[in-house]
Amino acid sequence: MLSQRIAHLHPYIPGEQPCDREYIKLNANENPYPPSEKVLQSIKNFIEKSSMKMSLYPDPESLELKRAIARMLNESGGVLNTCEKLPFKITEDMIFCGNGSDEVLSFIFYAFFDSDKPLLLPEYTYSFYPVYGEYYGIPLKKIPLKPDWTVDTQAIISAFKNPFSGFICANPNAPTGIALSLAELESILQQARGRAVVIDEAYADFSHTTALPLLEKYENLIIVRTFSKALSFAGMRLGYCIARPEAAAALTKVKNSFNHFPVDALTQHAGAAVCADWKTYAENTALIVRTRNSFSEELRSTGWTVLPSSTNFIMVKKGGLTEKPALSGKTVYEKLKTHGFLVRYFDGPATGDFVRITIGTAAQMKMLADTIKKL
Ligand SMILES: Cc1ncc(COP(=O)(O)O)c(C=O)c1O
Repeated sequence: MLSQRIAHLHPYIPGEQPCDREYIKLNANENPYPPSEKVLQSIKNFIEKSSMKMSLYPDPESLELKRAIARMLNESGGVLNTCEKLPFKITEDMIFCGNGSDEVLSFIFYAFFDSDKPLLLPEYTYSFYPVYGEYYGIPLKKIPLKPDWTVDTQAIISAFKNPFSGFICANPNAPTGIALSLAELESILQQARGRAVVIDEAYADFSHTTALPLLEKYENLIIVRTFSKALSFAGMRLGYCIARPEAAAALTKVKNSFNHFPVDALTQHAGAAVCADWKTYAENTALIVRTRNSFSEELRSTGWTVLPSSTNFIMVKKGGLTEKPALSGKTVYEKLKTHGFLVRYFDGPATGDFVRITIGTAAQMKMLADTIKKL
């Protein structure tokens, strides 16, 4: 009964969502703060006053939402909490929206990466990329990270000498949390010989860097964003990418060959309300960054290695960076779970020494720090 294809699928494994007890959930890089009051009010108004819109199909192109996203990016300078303005104006025809950035990424894999040459990516990056590679039959070439867990720009550029289909990387990277600078991203784009370079900026709002200014110069750049992290919207499923209009149009062609209406009417409406209230989310984001920095310092002062994070999570290990850890990642994960904290542990020879901890509220992180000291 099953197709031959399905036997070869290895699906993505998300952070656990257990129902057996209440946990402090720090395992999926969700935002600890709820959507803003203005957004909640806007959702209530939509349900009360525009209920008819729910019985009709939504706008397949999410036009109002795209306009709201473009406005947010132009007003904010591309990422929350940056002081710089973008050197050009983002327009709605440069934006493509989907049901979470995972779906946008899936369309990108289909539209830009071929099966006859490898897609280049860092050895450790968002673990959904290899799943899509397998799903679409795109071979992968993984480039090892440097010993300090940073992405090896020079090794990537050297790999461009052989035929390749494109390049994808999260920046800041996941699960390390470490970001490449704008200059490093540009050096990759300069050498990519016109192949698609996809920069997944799911966590860029927690840093001060975005590749957006490079879009003016490089037509092969595609930047992926999500509403799930800094914008407290993971439950509504909304992601988008910013690219040259021709690239955005190619993604619309893929969407219309798969699911005409990936973003429902309520999500389109609420997403636009989130964009209009971006300054509230900028405050929450700044608070999470302060909590991250103080929690990281506290762990470092008690003998933990904390990779330098530009995100809302940290990758940590008990002991020095190159030492055998005093507690394995699995042990830390299991012990914290018995104390009611869920963190993420990635099995594997290099990652197995670490756990990844999402930054919650200051109160949650204080409780976690007290518990970790007792381990
Ligand atoms: C790097 C990265 N990209 C994309 C996503 C997917 O986000 P979503 O599908 O919720 O927009 C995640 C989720 O954790 C992520 O870590």
